[in-house]
Amino acid sequence: MNLILIGVMGSGKSTIGRLSAKELSMEFVDMDIFLEEHYNRTIDSFFSEGENVFRDAETAVAQILGKQDRTVISTGGGVVLREDTMKALKENGITIFLDRNLDEIIERVNHENRPLLRDHPEKLYEIMEKRRNLYEKYADYTVINNQNLEDIVKQVASLWRKEGF
Ligand code: S3P
Repeated sequence: MNLILIGVMGSGKSTIGRLSAKELSMEFVDMDIFLEEHYNRTIDSFFSEGENVFRDAETAVAQILGKQDRTVISTGGGVVLREDTMKALKENGITIFLDRNLDEIIERVNHENRPLLRDHPEKLYEIMEKRRNLYEKYADYTVINNQNLEDIVKQVASLWRKEGF
């Protein structure tokens, strides 16, 4: 089984994923990085051909990662948009929705490699409005990311242990 973190960009999936994997002695995979390495192509380059081209690649990667075992997977913020992607991931894992206050994301997250947050922060509210019901639909658990990292990692790890893996 895998532990899958979902949530909007800047919600802390990669940071908390990496630390949780360490705490639980599991592997860690960042889906965006895996995708770029697997195709030897940047996410921007996929998007330049259209979002659907990126989403197809994302589904294919989910099918590969869904076959891993004992891996913490931090996903891209848009994985919930495709049912096939979530089906592939959830087939072999439990899903935690990392929910974080959007003002805090805009204020605190590194904007350098996130042009959306830098140029159009208000778009994050639109994105969350469209996706919140999907994050909730696919979440086995929700963890609110509003405390210190150590506490959140403890919560994530205890949910995993509670499942008995
Ligand atoms: C996306 C989020 C990004 C990345 C891609 C699309 C989205 O991942 O997958 O740019 O649609 O929300 P992060 O959530 O890791 O920033």
